[in-house]
Amino acid sequence: MTATLYERLGAAEGIAKIVDDFVDRHAANPLLAPRFQGRDLAKSKRLGTQFMCMGAGGPQRYEGRDLRAAHAGMNISEQELVAAIDDIVAAMQARQVGAAEVHEVVGILYSLKGEVLRL
Ligand code: HEM
Repeated sequence: MTATLYERLGAAEGIAKIVDDFVDRHAANPLLAPRFQGRDLAKSKRLGTQFMCMGAGGPQRYEGRDLRAAHAGMNISEQELVAAIDDIVAAMQARQVGAAEVHEVVGILYSLKGEVLRL
């Protein structure tokens, strides 16, 4: 049987490292940094890890707000979405995640754009 995306990303440990890396990249990315200034990055990492574990098929429960509520009032642009996805791809590539897995994650992220853009 094919392993789940969760298992192929390295399960809880692997995903926590990917999220740790891309949240740091967001905070350092000139296109995204203003959004993260003054925010609790440890909390972003914790919720981001739960979200990604759950979305990839892991047993974790996501304790954050739904995506629309979390991004409401931010008026996030398409350019910001692409910048965020670029950081996530870079974090996965830095950890030698396979191309098939990278493509799956990008597809999932892109499918969620209606829940984060221009709200
Ligand atoms: C498909 C793309 C995205 C996904 C899956 C996603 C996911 C999440 C999740 C799970 C949270 C935590 C929710 C919570 O705080 O309860 C969150 C919060 C946040 N996201 Fe996103 N996000 C996406 C795109 C973006 C983009 C493009 C930006 C910035 C330009 C962004 C900025 C933020 C900020 C600033 C928070 C913290 C909100 C707060 O502390 O009140 N997100 N996001």
